[in-house]
Amino acid sequence: MAALPRLVSFWFLFKVTLIFSASAQEENQFIHHGFEGSKLKLDGLAKIHPNGLLQLTNTSERISGHAFYPFPFKFNSSSSQSLSFSTSFVFAMFPKLPNYGGHGMAFFISPSTDFSEAVAGSHLGIFNRSNNGQFTNHIFAIELDTVQSPEFNDIDGNHVGIDVNGLQSNESASARYFSDEKKEFESLVLESGKPIQIWIDYNGQEKLVNVTLAPVPNPKPSRPLLSTSIDLSQILQDSMYVGLSAATGTRVSDYYILGWSFNKSGPAQNLDISKLPPLPPPPPTPGKKLNHTVIVSIVAAAVVLITIAAAVYFVKKKKYEEVYEDWEKEYSPHRFSYKNLYKATKGGSGKVYRGVLPSSHAEIAVKKVCHDSDHGMKQFVSEIVSMGKLRHRNLVQLRGYCRRKGELLLVYDYMPNGSLDKILYSNTRPSLNWFQRFRIIKGVAFGLLYLHEEWEQVVLHRDIKPANVLLDADLEGKLGDFGLARLYDHGNDLHTTNVVGTVGYLAPELLRNGRGTTSTDVYAFGVFMLEVACGRRPVQPGELDLLDWVIDYWQKGDVLDASDPRLEGIYVEEQMEIVLKLGLFCSHSNPDTRPSMRQVVQYLDGGALLPDIPLNSSVFGVLTAKNEAPNNGMASFASLVRSDSPHTMSTIDSIITVGR
Ligand SMILES: *[C@@H]1O[C@H](CO)[C@@H](O)[C@H](O)[C@H]1NC(C)=O
Ligand SMILES: *[C@@H]1O[C@H](CO)[C@@H](O)[C@H](O)[C@H]1NC(C)=O
Ligand SMILES: *[C@@H]1O[C@H](CO)[C@@H](O)[C@H](O)[C@H]1NC(C)=O
Ligand SMILES: *[C@@H]1O[C@H](CO)[C@@H](O)[C@H](O)[C@H]1NC(C)=O
Ligand SMILES: *[C@@H]1O[C@H](CO)[C@@H](O)[C@H](O)[C@H]1NC(C)=O
Ligand SMILES: *[C@@H]1O[C@H](CO)[C@@H](O)[C@H](O)[C@H]1NC(C)=O
Repeated sequence: MAALPRLVSFWFLFKVTLIFSASAQEENQFIHHGFEGSKLKLDGLAKIHPNGLLQLTNTSERISGHAFYPFPFKFNSSSSQSLSFSTSFVFAMFPKLPNYGGHGMAFFISPSTDFSEAVAGSHLGIFNRSNNGQFTNHIFAIELDTVQSPEFNDIDGNHVGIDVNGLQSNESASARYFSDEKKEFESLVLESGKPIQIWIDYNGQEKLVNVTLAPVPNPKPSRPLLSTSIDLSQILQDSMYVGLSAATGTRVSDYYILGWSFNKSGPAQNLDISKLPPLPPPPPTPGKKLNHTVIVSIVAAAVVLITIAAAVYFVKKKKYEEVYEDWEKEYSPHRFSYKNLYKATKGGSGKVYRGVLPSSHAEIAVKKVCHDSDHGMKQFVSEIVSMGKLRHRNLVQLRGYCRRKGELLLVYDYMPNGSLDKILYSNTRPSLNWFQRFRIIKGVAFGLLYLHEEWEQVVLHRDIKPANVLLDADLEGKLGDFGLARLYDHGNDLHTTNVVGTVGYLAPELLRNGRGTTSTDVYAFGVFMLEVACGRRPVQPGELDLLDWVIDYWQKGDVLDASDPRLEGIYVEEQMEIVLKLGLFCSHSNPDTRPSMRQVVQYLDGGALLPDIPLNSSVFGVLTAKNEAPNNGMASFASLVRSDSPHTMSTIDSIITVGR
């Protein structure tokens, strides 16, 4: 009686051992160059040709075909490493009508090999209408989709998508491949009839899936088309099959697989292209048989037309050519097409030019920035996009960007009255009155307060001066030119790379340690206020510095005498006094004594009384700045500083100069 259970368990153990030893070799990997003699499990219309070619479907309508590796693979969802896998295969799609094939194919991992309930067409033979998107499917798929299905939000009719449990892709991209020779992505037509290789690599620890395409015989490109974080620990079960599927709808193609390699324990072994079976000749294009002369003349005419069209196309394409890299995809809402900018600005050239967007009729200013290298470009663009999120009525709105070879275009809102320094020092335009000047000062103070304290990150402007304050149609001041910190190439002028800003606006500690802070911005804002009130540049050869000039009048008894003579004495005395004294206060040589922008705004609003400022010129300004500072050509920009407190931060970026 007791012997029976022992016998059963022995038998069970024996069977398990048998299975394990039988599949120990093939458990984690396989590679097929052609499928002759392979044990793949096929269904639907899938078949293996005598030469080894695997055909998943022919061009009948609404059919599908599958090929599975016959044994399941062991995944262990409690060990992320064990979820990794890597696969590569070569496929070819022959549409029955050129560019009108369908629906597509997929590589997938699933708990079962029974897909009898799945439907063809846009469901690619792996899902049906009721289970699509269900968490219970436990299916991970990479689709090669040649029909745009709006119900699944497909991006186009030639894309690669990452699918989890359904056909609404988590991430997708138009079929392209990275050319390591040209260092850029090139387009690829999935249903060209030519063999294409795909690599799918999943790293379970990094939770990152990479999908890479390339036309045969290119080697694996250095950059994937898709690199997406995805956690498959809830998707992959202990025992999973890997398969390939293809499906037709009313649009049909022949789907072929030439070779397939899979590895659960390491990178999939490279397919040897020379060992792949040949494809059948491409299907003849349908049409009535025509006699020879007609064909020859049609072909000749077509060649001429195509040549002309191609020439026009390439000239246009060159003219509008952009640089676009894969990582920029997430920034695409912030990106303008060069064609649109070109049209908007009627082909304007120069450093800054104006245009009107055709879609919204918004007036824009396009600023061209040269860049010679792609070094750090990713970070520049990410900062530009961050800067574009800054919204304040006293900041010039950065709308987005566009990249071309060797240049970057920044798109701003257009400011019809130009920069403040042009008006402030113009001999031809009427001078700004005090009401306008005071409003501009307050506006810039609000804009700077926003940058320093009111946005999610502390942003330093680093180059506050009248040339960077732009005036809108109502002569309201807006701060511009922030966010460009890394746009310029380094190293043209190494001995000036330690200082950021413009001479005359540089705080003394900035000259010593080269580190921008909110206090160095406050210093520059102080000089800016004095400049607007006095109508005098901070540093002029052979003349007293602006700070000394104001202090001089103050010591003589009436600080108001320092005000701009162009105002002809017409101003609100209390406001003028606050601006002049606050300007000095902000320019205090000790950064800890300077007010914060919030306090500056309170003083300007009259909500707080200015403290008594000792009338001693040695505590203001930088009396030695002229000797220490480089003498021309510098400008600089805001930088993002990640810090909770504006007072404890250190700037992160390198400090850069701009060419003359
Ligand atoms: C596709 O294959 C099936 C089964 O072999 C066959 O009945 C059908 O005629 C084929 N369709 C075409 C268009 O060749
Ligand atoms: C799965 O992984 C966990 C953690 O690494 C390990 O403890 C467990 O034994 C593994 N299970 C199997 C069946 O290998
Ligand atoms: C969809 O497929 C599932 C199995 O994956 C099946 O249980 C269900 O009945 C199918 N639904 C339809 C509408 O075919
Ligand atoms: C993306 O994948 C996750 C599983 O990793 C899934 O829960 C989520 O719904 C997917 N998102 C979309 C938009 O398909
Ligand atoms: C995916 O691609 C990225 C970027 O090229 C690379 O750093 C990473 O190692 C790749 N991961 C896998 C699993 O291939
Ligand atoms: C799978 O990866 C292992 C470890 O990298 C390697 O030794 C093996 O050759 C690979 N097998 C295949 C079929 O790619």
